[in-house]
Amino acid sequence: MSIIVRPVAGHIGADISNVDISQPLSTDTVQDIRDALHTYKVIFFRGQQLDHASQIAFGRQFGELTYAHPHDDTPPEDFPEIYTVDPKRYEKKYGAEFGVASRRRRYSYYTGWHTDVTAAVNPPAGSILRAEVVPDIGGDTQWTNLVAAYEGLSEPVKAFVDTLRAEHRYGGGYQITAGSKYSKVVEDNLLVAIHPVVRVHPVTGEKGLFVNPGFTSHIVGVSARESKAVLDLLYAELTRPEYTVRLRWAKGTVAFWDNRATAHLAPSDIEHLEVQRTLHRVTLTGERPVGPDGQESELVAGKEFTAKHTVLVD
Ligand code: SIN
Repeated sequence: MSIIVRPVAGHIGADISNVDISQPLSTDTVQDIRDALHTYKVIFFRGQQLDHASQIAFGRQFGELTYAHPHDDTPPEDFPEIYTVDPKRYEKKYGAEFGVASRRRRYSYYTGWHTDVTAAVNPPAGSILRAEVVPDIGGDTQWTNLVAAYEGLSEPVKAFVDTLRAEHRYGGGYQITAGSKYSKVVEDNLLVAIHPVVRVHPVTGEKGLFVNPGFTSHIVGVSARESKAVLDLLYAELTRPEYTVRLRWAKGTVAFWDNRATAHLAPSDIEHLEVQRTLHRVTLTGERPVGPDGQESELVAGKEFTAKHTVLVD
């Protein structure tokens, strides 16, 4: 039995069917899924029945998993790889103020276009997100194809951005409220990296934009005004609707994205509704990105993000 791959949008996204991902997969099926991931950048599995253990087992067939999240000191007991995405959980932890700030798009994790954990020198290679409870309306996630966004640039602009590097950090894109509980956790667990603005994908060899509004603080070696102008241009390109796909979640839906070639937008249309939205994510350990000139990303603060990650909390 082979998987069935059905593309769902012009530049990104495919539905994968004819596979039960709660069961161990054959080497051929793992390779077919990997190929679909690299071609379509985000793939969707519907009606799956995963729990924490089988989600972790599914993920491990594609590589080593990281610890849950750079700032999450309370992953589910016995499942340090699981990061639970639930705004109510964050509000409980960091106070109602977190929710208010999120609505203003201050925190990259709750809302705003981002690629996962690019503040790390080795951002995750892939992310696997499973829906447990989703609202009847709203709460969709969108992804964009960063390779298509790069390829859509004119040749002179491509040649220019190929030479640039940028700093990424938590709070780099969206301001984190100074003096808040959350900002203390971020400062105590500082992760800062300098990445190429254009990343060469280690498997496909494709070039993709590697900046995102959530984590990129600035382009290095240029003035603040120049950095803002360049980033604004690239963000306008990478968020163009034609490069995106939008997922309407249902319980049992699993999204698996290539975190080296996509950015995604968590929903911001449900905070005013009294609804629950609980999803669980695992991330595949990534390598240091490499730019078109062959230069690797540089670590500025923190350590590589791996399974061994520990979170300091006062
Ligand atoms: C994430 O950023 O990984 C979560 C996306 C979502 O909540 O839709």
